[in-house]
Amino acid sequence: MSSRAEAVERAVELRAELEHHAHRYYVLDDPEIDDAAYDRLYDELQALEEEHPDLRDPASPTARVGAPPAERFEKVNHLQPMGSLDKVTDADSLGKWADDVRKRLGSDEPVAYVTEPKIDGSAVSLVYERGTLARGATRGDGLRGEDITANLCTIKGIPLRTVGPPPPPLLEVRGEVYFPADAFARLNERLVVEGRKPAPNPRNAAAGSLRQLDSRITAERDLAIWFYGVGFAQGLAVATQWALLQWLRARGFRTNLHAERHESIDSVARTCEAWEASRAELDYDIDGIVIKIDSIDQQWRLGALHERPRWARAFKWSPMRAETLLKSIHVRVGRTGALNPWAELEPVQVGGVTVSNATLHNEEDINRKDIREGDRVIVQRAGDVIPQVVGPVLPHRSGTTPFRMPKRCLLCDATVVKLEGEVMHRCPNQACSSRGLETLIHWAGQPVMDIEGVGEQLIRRLWDLGLLRTAADLYRLTADQLLELDGFQERLAANVIASIERSKERPLSRVLFGLNIAGVGAVGAQALAAHFGSTAELQSASVEEIQSVAGIGPERAEAIAEWCSQPENRELLDELGHLGLRLGAEREDSPGEGPLSGRTYVFTGMLEAWTREEAQAALEALGARVTGSVSGKTSALVAGENAGSKLAKAREIGVEVLDEAAFAALVARERP
Ligand code: IVH
Repeated sequence: MSSRAEAVERAVELRAELEHHAHRYYVLDDPEIDDAAYDRLYDELQALEEEHPDLRDPASPTARVGAPPAERFEKVNHLQPMGSLDKVTDADSLGKWADDVRKRLGSDEPVAYVTEPKIDGSAVSLVYERGTLARGATRGDGLRGEDITANLCTIKGIPLRTVGPPPPPLLEVRGEVYFPADAFARLNERLVVEGRKPAPNPRNAAAGSLRQLDSRITAERDLAIWFYGVGFAQGLAVATQWALLQWLRARGFRTNLHAERHESIDSVARTCEAWEASRAELDYDIDGIVIKIDSIDQQWRLGALHERPRWARAFKWSPMRAETLLKSIHVRVGRTGALNPWAELEPVQVGGVTVSNATLHNEEDINRKDIREGDRVIVQRAGDVIPQVVGPVLPHRSGTTPFRMPKRCLLCDATVVKLEGEVMHRCPNQACSSRGLETLIHWAGQPVMDIEGVGEQLIRRLWDLGLLRTAADLYRLTADQLLELDGFQERLAANVIASIERSKERPLSRVLFGLNIAGVGAVGAQALAAHFGSTAELQSASVEEIQSVAGIGPERAEAIAEWCSQPENRELLDELGHLGLRLGAEREDSPGEGPLSGRTYVFTGMLEAWTREEAQAALEALGARVTGSVSGKTSALVAGENAGSKLAKAREIGVEVLDEAAFAALVARERP
């Protein structure tokens, strides 16, 4: 039991501490204490407020759990209208806008720009009275929105009270509420489990979550926010948008770290272009880049037309998701015998590319998402990966049935099996043609032997003609044989033979990856090549020795030894050796010994002075390993421009982050 005076004092202290730590965590992305320590402070405050109910305060950190349901949302006027942005879609129209701005301002005046990711969420406006959140509203028609204060209070990135220097007594801030990708995936999983329709995209889900009459539902949804500007702010004296972002951040408003200031429109154009490709690395959706004239004075002079400012533009890309018809579901037997379902779609534009088929993962996943032939579905592209079907948009047409995997292999008619604990159905027949054909397609592909001019189509044709059965056959092909095929003339045939020949130079690790040994992917193949240095050494190794290779467990070691003992595989390796492939005792593909041996690095974003390959080679030359994803075993993350989710992950789990300068210094320091 505490006296009231003590309780008041302690509650004030605890709230200040919790606000400080929330700011470190949500805004600065740099927590000082761990979750458990935060929870202890929180629990103490909650207990205190329960003991002394008169201490409760709507701006207390404990008030974020949601309030009892409201009957409807009140309409509220914004203090200043929320406008919208005119868009540009390419460097040309961007340049025209910049010309118009310069004409209006007077051509000698320097103009600087700020670019910010255009968050694809739901716009909100928050009013702070003497630094405390008083009201929050949706955009509505731009003049009047709906009062969703109770819902906004549940979003942890929204300060209930500002921090740092006091803001103007009446302050209206603007931001975009969004769903982080992982929170969106969790929401949809839950909706499906509850037998409800999944949300079609994070933007709809964010808007829907903000308009829940029961704010306890909003509280469960892990929404986030980026702030990007102010509406009404009497007496606020900042001269530039760039300074405004720092001003907001210093007061506890999360501003996006990917904002940039530019002195030329060419630099703006480069940023817009670079982000189209790298946006997939972010853990939230952006549908473009917002470009703002930096100087607030210039903004005033340029003014707006029908609430659309002349001082800003949205550079918009085509969307990365689209809706289309799923015509049918097909199954392809892969090189490991796995049955891979894929969707044949009515062709649709997604992010500037026509998509006519997409992967579906496995039977379980298809049925969990309740995807059926004949459905209208959402298709999504992310970066370079193959398009995926996210889920159906509409209820099923009557008569459609859930998807079932075929019972027999489509190629060899063997009975399909599904092993305990596995999600994939497989053809168990080692002699099934899928293995041979798909192995060859894999062998010629970019991550393996990278044989230019030898794509899936050509391999299928050669397979059908009986000219190819194993990788060795590929190296015995002649230009004359190719000339027999439709569409081949001398030049093309000679080029294809030359590129097959060049692929003999690929290192041992690629060969091992290409052989399609069960469980040996690119990383495992590298580890095996580094350890054994030749196929001969690997072939004579015991299961125990194979198992001693980093990352190879007992089951995989067993499978590798088994593969090596099969006569047809021994023969294949002999043939490849005679044909001149590099199976020999060389270790240059493996990280050698060096000052960074035992250390593992990951790259993200773009470096200015290095290509990714050069940077990786520099680290490997020093003995380090380079891998693709951040984990507890990562020694450091090298983060260039436009770093995305890997950076967030590294920060989250406390992995050291090197910027380009620190990376260059490391390489220079350690170089022998
Ligand atoms: S500035 C006059 N900055 O895009 C409007 N908007 O069409 C000035 N948005 O309704 C808006 N990210 O919902 C601005 N960094 C950003 C933004 C952003 C997303 C949204 C916002 C607005 C719409 C503009």
